[in-house]
Amino acid sequence: MAGRNFLFVPGPTNVPDRVLRAMVVPMEDHRSPIFPELARACLSALKPIFKTATGSPILFPSSGTGCWEAALTNCLNTGDKVLIARYGQFSHLWADMCTRLGFEVEILETPWGEGAPVERYLATLAADKTHRIKAVLLCQNETATGVTSDVAAVRQAIDSAKHPALLFVDSVSALASIDFRMDEWGVDVCVSGSQKGLMLPAGLGVTCVSQKALDAAKSATARRCYFDYSDMVKSNATGYFPYTPSIPMLYGLRESLAMLAEEGLENVFQRHSYLAAGVRAAVHEGWKLKLCAAAPKWYSDTVSAIMVPEGINGAEVIARAFRRYNLALGAGLSKVAGKLFRIGHLGDLNELMLLGAIAGAEMAMLDVGVKVEPGSGVAAAQNYWRKNSPVSEVKSAGSKAGIAA
Ligand SMILES: Cc1ncc(COP(=O)(O)O)c(C=O)c1O
Repeated sequence: MAGRNFLFVPGPTNVPDRVLRAMVVPMEDHRSPIFPELARACLSALKPIFKTATGSPILFPSSGTGCWEAALTNCLNTGDKVLIARYGQFSHLWADMCTRLGFEVEILETPWGEGAPVERYLATLAADKTHRIKAVLLCQNETATGVTSDVAAVRQAIDSAKHPALLFVDSVSALASIDFRMDEWGVDVCVSGSQKGLMLPAGLGVTCVSQKALDAAKSATARRCYFDYSDMVKSNATGYFPYTPSIPMLYGLRESLAMLAEEGLENVFQRHSYLAAGVRAAVHEGWKLKLCAAAPKWYSDTVSAIMVPEGINGAEVIARAFRRYNLALGAGLSKVAGKLFRIGHLGDLNELMLLGAIAGAEMAMLDVGVKVEPGSGVAAAQNYWRKNSPVSEVKSAGSKAGIAA
């Protein structure tokens, strides 16, 4: 097909040209005397992304799933009990992994479309007088349903229950797009990956571990080898990795972290929230459709899961968009298969790119029989973006002066 593919799944996201260029490098010796410059540049520039002064960022040659496994096997003993709320396919998969690795899992079943049930986390932890629960697991942004949860509130629940459990947070589709605060929220392990807000290809598991988690790892007996934190931390301290790292990915990461720093992390969050609001205007005001997210407090700024009307199969919208318009939309997964399609709006994106996705989704919906008003989603998003700014008024004062000049 002529023209470019429009990639609007919620990861992998578009890799900026600058990052692609940075990755085109000859192979080099990962044990050379100059290699530590690259490794240290990446690891230190990740600290502000996790908002941590005391945590240790770790890079595994994996995807986010590897970091889920690392969190469990490094910090826990096989058979330990963990607590997790399940409200979408990714929280489901993490819970399933816990069982498969031999942990005891207490699941807080939560309707898909809702976020972390903070009161139930609190009640469960408060009732756990003997502290059998060793880790609380939480998916910050449930990519399957487009729902963002309040990590700080879950931290407060753990504190109010005076519970010593570790807190593991999946920030795979939030990190570097939606605010995440490792130190302030007392997160012990943050799990993420390269192919979302970090604007890289898939292939790096990007995680960060607190000192408390590293201390727990010293005596934890679950079996691990490839994903051992202590091997990694020891090697990283000398500027190296315990095994061969993907050097092009590290060059790409260094570049993407530079881009995020240039834009300013808070501006990156603001841009995501502004772009997401435009997509939601298309869904609600234009198409008169509903999101899977059940209430505004859960609306995700990185992905919108859009419910298709009764009698329409969401998979047909996605197939039509892909085959006819070269537009990749996210599928409905497991329980919500066929009921929705997703527009990913994270990473290297602006208004006009998203208007392409909205226009394509609109055409695909019309083609398969969804009764939306032609042009309505595009117009609603345009109106939102024309009337609003990607940076807050205070922050935009300088740029407004720039426009006037
Ligand atoms: C919230 C969330 N957690 C975990 C994963 C799994 O990550 P990966 O596919 O990088 O292994 C994903 C993937 O999309 C995700 O969205």
